[in-house]
Amino acid sequence: MLKTVVCVSGGGTNLQAILDAIDSGKITNTEILAVISNNAGAKALERAERHGIPGICMSPKSFADREAFNEAFTAKMEELSPDLVVLAGFLVRIPEQMVSKFSGRIINIHPSLIPSFCGVGYYGLKVHEKALERGVKVTGATVHFVNEGMDEGPIIAQKAVAVEQGDTPEILQRRVMEQAEWILLPQAIDDIANGRLEIVDGHVRRV
Ligand code: GRF
Repeated sequence: MLKTVVCVSGGGTNLQAILDAIDSGKITNTEILAVISNNAGAKALERAERHGIPGICMSPKSFADREAFNEAFTAKMEELSPDLVVLAGFLVRIPEQMVSKFSGRIINIHPSLIPSFCGVGYYGLKVHEKALERGVKVTGATVHFVNEGMDEGPIIAQKAVAVEQGDTPEILQRRVMEQAEWILLPQAIDDIANGRLEIVDGHVRRV
């Protein structure tokens, strides 16, 4: 059984896709231990509660400084001791000590085809604003392992999504969620839960 902790910050639609996939059997062999949010008002916490999953709120704002938050966040994760940490719309930088303690066991969903439109400052709607500004005809989403960089870890899977005439950032974000994120993330979790992935020379491949 893959013990999993999901980290969220906002609406929780990616969390919901995971929960629905577990309920429908699209994800097997997986148990969500807890949902952690930096935002007490996150709708994602309501989604967790409705599903009977413990919600934990840990915000950097409640600590003296970032270092204190990083220590507490990492200690909490060690206490939960998951096999997998899933960042599902989580807007807080993962502490270095957590990346190293959970090396190869943290994944993230990013709403673009990495290496486009990623890195510092590229999150949420801003990603889609930049894609439209650049005039790309295809965008999409990427699920990847988290390393010490920002959106630089080994790519697990990607899915392309067409940009259409008249798209606003909001319309494009929704299409990328529906057609890519909500498919890629549950699939990646199921693959990991059932031992279908390995990393060879820094690249992920399905076994
Ligand atoms: C969305 O912009 C999504 O693309 C990204 O995080 C944001 C919030 O997603 N992954 P969610 O609805 O909270 O899962």
